[in-house]
Amino acid sequence: MVFGFPDSYVTPDDPKRQRTELYGKFCTEATNAHDRHRRWPGTALFGRRSHLRKAAAPRVINVSSGYGQLDGMSANVPRYCLSKLALNGVTIMLAAALRAEGVAVNSMCPGWVRTDMGGPDATRSVEEGADTAVWLADEAPRELTGKFFRSRAEIAW
Ligand SMILES: NC(=O)c1ccc[n+]([C@@H]2O[C@H](COP(=O)([O-])OP(=O)(O)OC[C@H]3O[C@@H](n4cnc5c(N)ncnc54)[C@H](OP(=O)(O)O)[C@@H]3O)[C@@H](O)[C@H]2O)c1
Repeated sequence: MVFGFPDSYVTPDDPKRQRTELYGKFCTEATNAHDRHRRWPGTALFGRRSHLRKAAAPRVINVSSGYGQLDGMSANVPRYCLSKLALNGVTIMLAAALRAEGVAVNSMCPGWVRTDMGGPDATRSVEEGADTAVWLADEAPRELTGKFFRSRAEIAW
C-alpha cells in the first residue's frame, strides 16, 4: 500500500476523498478531536490490516516530504509541514505495532518532482521521484521498517 496525496488538500467531509481508504480514514479520525485519544490511530489505521495480511511480503509506504523533517520545518507551508510530521509519526507507530506481523512500514520523500504540485522547474522526473517508493515496495530488505528514506538512503526524521 502506498499512500501519498498532498495532505494539505485533505477534506474529510468530501465523499470522493473518503474513498481514499486507510489514509482518508486516518484524516477523518485524526480531525475527530473529541474522541481521538480512544480511536486514533487504532481503528483508523489498523482497520485495513486484513488486506495487509493477504500479502506475502506486506509493506506500507507513506509518501512524506523533507518538509516533514524536524530540521525541514518552514513557516511558509505550516499545514503541509505539520501534516508530513504527523505522517512520519504514524509511520513510527505503525511500524512498531505491525513489526511482529512482518509488515514493513516506512516513510519516503520523493525529492522535488515535476508534477502538478512540484511544477515544471523541479529537479526530478516523475520516474525519479517514484523510484524510492517502488524500491521500498519491491526490493528493499524487509527488515527495513520504521524509517524515512530519500534516494534509497535513510534520512533523519
Ligand atoms: N512534487 C514534489 O516535489 C513533492 C515533494 C515532496 C513530497 N511530495 C509528496 O508526493 C506526493 C505526491 O505529490 P504529487 O507531486 O504527485 O502531487 P500532485 O501532482 O498535486 O498530485 C496529487 C494527487 O493526489 C490526489 N489527491 C489530493 N488530495 C487527495 C485526497 N484528499 N484524497 C485522495 N487523493 C487526493 C490528487 O487527485 P485529484 O487530481 O483528483 O485532486 C492528485 O492525483 C504527495 O504526498 C506530496 O506531498 C511531492
